[in-house]
Amino acid sequence: MNTSQEYIQQNKDRYVEELIELLRIPSVSTDSSKKDAIHQAANFLLSQFKQFDFNKVELFETPGNPIVYAEHCPHSDKPTVLIYGHYDVQPSDPDYLWDSPAFEPVIKDGDIYARGASDDKGQSYTHIKAVESFVKTGQEIPVNVKFLLEGEEEIGSPNLVPFIESHIDLLNCDMVLISDTSMFGKDIPSITYGLRGLAYMEVEVTGPNRDLHSGVYGGAVENPINVLCEMIAKLKDDDGVISVPGFYDKVKALTPDDRAASAALPFDEEAYKKSLDIKAVHGEKGYTTLERGSARPTLDVNGIWGGYQAEGAKTVLPSKAAAKISMRLVPDQHPQEIAKLFSDYFNSIAPDTVKVVVNEHHGGHPSVTDLSFYGLKAAAKAFEDVFGKEPLFSREGGSIPIVADFKRVLGVESILMGFGLTSDAIHSPNEKFSLQDFQRGIRTSARFMEHLAEMN
Ligand code: BES
Ligand code: MN
Ligand code: MN
Repeated sequence: MNTSQEYIQQNKDRYVEELIELLRIPSVSTDSSKKDAIHQAANFLLSQFKQFDFNKVELFETPGNPIVYAEHCPHSDKPTVLIYGHYDVQPSDPDYLWDSPAFEPVIKDGDIYARGASDDKGQSYTHIKAVESFVKTGQEIPVNVKFLLEGEEEIGSPNLVPFIESHIDLLNCDMVLISDTSMFGKDIPSITYGLRGLAYMEVEVTGPNRDLHSGVYGGAVENPINVLCEMIAKLKDDDGVISVPGFYDKVKALTPDDRAASAALPFDEEAYKKSLDIKAVHGEKGYTTLERGSARPTLDVNGIWGGYQAEGAKTVLPSKAAAKISMRLVPDQHPQEIAKLFSDYFNSIAPDTVKVVVNEHHGGHPSVTDLSFYGLKAAAKAFEDVFGKEPLFSREGGSIPIVADFKRVLGVESILMGFGLTSDAIHSPNEKFSLQDFQRGIRTSARFMEHLAEMN
């Protein structure tokens, strides 16, 4: 073990204590009453970099939440790595389903439980602590590093995209490093090379101008909840194929190589079903569960409401019904184009008995990393050093839209070096992160920087 790896080992308990401090801050980006917490989390990170004697440490205010930026670029002959992460988190609700409060971290059986433990405070903190292991042992960081930590990822990074576009020189780099994805499984390190994009719609169906007595009017006046359900049923056919005309036009078909690589992954469908307590999997005909969940596009209702939902039976014919519907996208689908296709189709299947309004929420582009990119080799070696085995390469179904923006604006590939697990319950109650993987993550990040420096 070298000095930096030893330092990480020796300081592992303090590292966890610091993470606990960060996890205590309820930096929920969707909640405008949490602005103080957002600033507190940003300042916590900023103060980390201030200890490191970096070239530049700066808090960039935006119309929304601040961006934490820090860089140390002492080498003229080594690559520059832009390390991206997000300090904002999803809301904790429903709180009653948490075994312990979301912002009061507890450690149980080697896992730390708190909102943001895995997504993304715990994972992104690994790189800060990796850098510390060089700085505090009197070593130069092996490569040039630039940290870009945002507070609006969970709301679609509305201010980060313009920030990148207006700071191209500042952010100039050879690659982006991100830990905000999952490993293939416990003790199965993996590098994620594909992420899906997103188009997110909200639809509202209005029938009569007010709620009506369902006996007096029922049968004679259209019920918008019935209509909404019928319209939603028309969004997919019996084979799980999305019916929106043009939806698949730009979808890149999976090649035989893609499919063989996916089939070779150690996926246990029985264990998958058991972990979710489902009798059968479901999805687009002709594709495997792994393909359906990562490399094929989807359409899902995320929420639906309307009518009477309180206690007892109120006989009412509601005036309105609404739903939130998301589509996960794959290369080369374009979120705005898909939103338009959806909107046109949804309007076209509406009966004259109702009025329909379709609105679009934030979306994002899909991305796929070029597997021949040299930075991936350094990442793979680092995983091998720390986990004792080579990482797998897999695609994931979640979205980190900024990856496509890094490619488009800065022209660089992103290395998705995730340390989370799909069982971490991100966005759900009882989110957790393995402390062993937190430590292995820090060590992997440090080894990555060393391998990358040696490759040059
Ligand atoms: N870290 C996740 C994305 C993720 C999770 C990718 C697991 C791969 C595996 C990220 O914070 C996230 O939640 N993204 C959102 C999209 C965003 C536009 C709100 C998502 O995927 O729903
Ligand atoms: Mn995340
Ligand atoms: Mn998230």
